Amino acid sequence: MSAANELLAQIAEIRERALSAISAVGDSGALETIRVRELGRKAALPQLLRHVAELDPAARGQVGAAANAARNEIETALAGRATALQSVELDARLAADRVDLTLPGAPALAVGRLNLLTITAREIEDIFVGLGYRIAEGPDVETVYYNFDALNTLPTHPSRQWSDTFYVSDEVVLRTHTSPVQVRAMESSPPPLYVICPGRTFRRDSDATHTPQFHQMEGLAVDEEITLGDLQGTLLAFAQAMFGDERRVQLRPHFFPFTEPSVEVDVSCFQCVDGYLADGSRCNICRGEGWLEILGAGIVDPNVFEAVRAHGYDPERIQGFAFGMGIERIGMLKHGLLDLRLFYENDVRILEQFS
Ligand code: DAH
Repeated sequence: MSAANELLAQIAEIRERALSAISAVGDSGALETIRVRELGRKAALPQLLRHVAELDPAARGQVGAAANAARNEIETALAGRATALQSVELDARLAADRVDLTLPGAPALAVGRLNLLTITAREIEDIFVGLGYRIAEGPDVETVYYNFDALNTLPTHPSRQWSDTFYVSDEVVLRTHTSPVQVRAMESSPPPLYVICPGRTFRRDSDATHTPQFHQMEGLAVDEEITLGDLQGTLLAFAQAMFGDERRVQLRPHFFPFTEPSVEVDVSCFQCVDGYLADGSRCNICRGEGWLEILGAGIVDPNVFEAVRAHGYDPERIQGFAFGMGIERIGMLKHGLLDLRLFYENDVRILEQFS
């Protein structure tokens, strides 16, 4: 076989091999490998063209033309296959990351928050803990002894009636106030004693400003030389921390069985001046009074110490003041809520306004 014929046979073989490899290949990466192998600088076809110069001038044209034709065919096949593979691969990619815009959105879950009552109780606790008080607790289901008797409450006192108080039995009630925790705290620690007592309380009452279950914060300070002035100063510090530095407090005479003298304590309204707003209208928070009643308090009655004398409380030697406030009332005043039931109704449109 002449040199020219041999080259023509090789070209045909290369062409055959390349075209069948190209039509069999399944992805763009492998196709590129074939391109380099068949048409790259070191590939058989370009190498073979170097020998064309060694042929008779008469044969050169034929072999050169055959090589070019083979090369063109291979390039066309490569290009056609590349286009086909790319479109298959694009379809696969699109199918893989398809986003269904008709699916409903998935908003982040709302984060819960504390109920305004818990927030208010913790604010009050923080203020008194800052003044050196510690927190004491007692049971919700309480004996008549702690709820009434030890607190100097006469058997005839109206709060003892079955129509006012939830009785579990003749001797056991749902506590009507947090004051019994005063007695329990004194039984478990000798003076000096500075405690606040948060907790649930229960009364047979239900309207916009009363619910059968509500919350109180009791305070008790027992030491030597405690006076009504100490009570006033302590409550002023509390009122200013809770309702603003400008607040003043006033004490009005009152009656509670467990304190003598007893007072009700008002804080100056934080929304108005003397009951009227800047535009001359009557303040809706204090109803034109200029003062808001926030709690009951007084100097601990010696008869209460008498009940815990055995625990180190000698009424001749020590004095104390006590106070009790409604946590709901403090929260309503501070945030301008008009209906107590909003605390409990679990309407998130209300509850989520406080954080
Ligand atoms: N326990 C009273 C009530 O529920 C509030 C109270 C008044 C508590 C005077 C006290 C106090 O500690 O000294 O209405």
